[in-house]
Amino acid sequence: MQNVPHATRERSIKRAGYVFGILLVLAGLALVLIPQSSRFAAKGPANTGHDKLACTDCHKEAPGTLRQQLQAKAYYLLGLRETNPTFGHERVSNDACTDCHARGQDAHPTHRFLEPRFKEARDQLGAESCASCHREHKGVRVTMAPTSCATCHQDLALKNDPLDVSHRELIAKAQWTTCLGCHDYHGNHKRQTQQKLEDAYAAKAITDYLAGGPSPYGNDLKFPTQWGAR
Ligand code: HEC
Ligand code: HEC
Ligand code: HEC
Ligand code: HEC
Ligand code: HEC
Repeated sequence: MQNVPHATRERSIKRAGYVFGILLVLAGLALVLIPQSSRFAAKGPANTGHDKLACTDCHKEAPGTLRQQLQAKAYYLLGLRETNPTFGHERVSNDACTDCHARGQDAHPTHRFLEPRFKEARDQLGAESCASCHREHKGVRVTMAPTSCATCHQDLALKNDPLDVSHRELIAKAQWTTCLGCHDYHGNHKRQTQQKLEDAYAAKAITDYLAGGPSPYGNDLKFPTQWGAR
C-alpha cells in the first residue's frame, strides 16, 4: 500500500468498515429469523430416496467462524482479497455420501479414478465424484447417461466371452445402451449376470430406473443404505 495516497487509503478503510458493518447486521438478522435447515433455498426436488434427509446431511458448514467468513467476504468485495471465500457451505464431498452409502466393495470405486490414466474419464464424467453421476436436486436416481460406459470400456475383449453376442461385437456396433441391461454399475445388487442378449433388460427399463422408477435388478443389496454408517 506504499504508493496509495493517504486520503484514498483512509476512504477505502472507511468503506471496508461500512460494508463489514452492514454484512454483520444482515447476517445477525438471518441467524435470528431463518431456521438453520432452510437458510438457503434448495435448487430442486430431492433425488430418489432423499426426501427425508436434512440439508445438513450433505451440506456441511464451511470452515471458519461466521465472523471470519464475513471478514473474508468484505475484503473480497473491496478488492483486498483475490479469491471469493466459500460462504456458508462447502462442496458436497464423497464422504458425505458414504456416511450412509458405505460399501465394503464396489465394482467402480471412485478413488480408483484418481489415477493419472483416468484423466479423460475425470474430465468427461467426473467418475471420481459421486455427485457427478448423482447430481442432486434433479429429482432422479442417476444423472449419468446410460451410454457412459463407452468412456472407459472401448478396448474390452474377454478371453472366453460367455455371451451369445460377444462384448467385442456389441462394442464394434456401439451398442452402449445394452451394458446396464446386464450389469449394475456398482455391482451392489445380489444377482446373476445374464448371458443372452435377449435376456438383457430393455433400454427403457434402464432409463426408467435411472429416472427413479423400479429396479430391474431387484432390491436385494450386498451393502444396504444406512443412516450415518461411518
Ligand atoms: C443427498 C445430499 C444432499 C442433500 C440432502 C441436499 N443437497 Fe443440496 N446439493 C447436493 C449436491 C451434491 C449439490 C451439487 C449440485 C450438483 O452437482 O448438481 C447440491 C447443491 C445445492 C445448491 C446449489 C449451490 C451449490 O453448492 O452448488 C443449493 C442452494 C442446495 N444444494 C441447497 C440444498 C437445501 C436447501 C437442501 C435441503 C432442503 C439440500 N440442498 C439438501 C447434495 C444435497
Ligand atoms: C443421511 C444419509 C444419506 C446421505 C448423506 C446420502 N444418502 Fe443417498 N439415500 C439415503 C437413503 C435413506 C436412501 C433411500 C433408501 C434406499 O433406497 O437405499 C437413499 C437413496 C439413494 C439412492 C437411490 C438408491 C436406490 O436404490 O433407490 C442413491 C443413488 C443415493 N442415495 C445416492 C447418494 C449420493 C450420491 C449421496 C451424496 C451426494 C447420498 N446418497 C447421500 C441416505 C443418504
Ligand atoms: C460414473 C458414474 C457414477 C459414479 C461416479 C457413482 N455412481 Fe452410483 N450409480 C451409477 C449408476 C449408473 C447407477 C445405476 C446402476 C446400479 O444400480 O448400480 C448407480 C447406482 C447407485 C446406487 C443405487 C444402487 C446401489 O448400489 O445401492 C447408489 C446408492 C449409488 N449409486 C451411490 C453412489 C455413491 C455413494 C457414489 C460415490 C461413492 C456413487 N454412487 C458414484 C453411477 C455412478
Ligand atoms: C471411469 C471409467 C469407467 C466407467 C465409466 C465404467 N467402467 Fe467399468 N470398469 C472400469 C475399470 C477400471 C474396471 C476394472 C477393470 C480391471 O480391474 O481390470 C471396470 C470393471 C468393470 C466390470 C467388471 C467388474 C468386476 O467386479 O468384475 C464390469 C462388469 C464393468 N466395468 C461394466 C461397466 C458398465 C456396464 C459401465 C457403464 C454403466 C461401466 N463399466 C463404466 C472403468 C469404468
Ligand atoms: C447379455 C448380457 C451382457 C451384456 C449386454 C453386456 N455384458 Fe458385460 N458381461 C456379461 C457376462 C455374463 C460377463 C462375464 C462375467 C460376469 O459374469 O459378470 C461380462 C463381463 C464383463 C466385464 C468384465 C470383463 C473381465 O475381463 O472380467 C466387463 C468390463 C463388461 N462385461 C462390460 C460390459 C460393457 C461395457 C457392456 C456394453 C457394451 C457389456 N458388458 C454388455 C454380460 C453382459
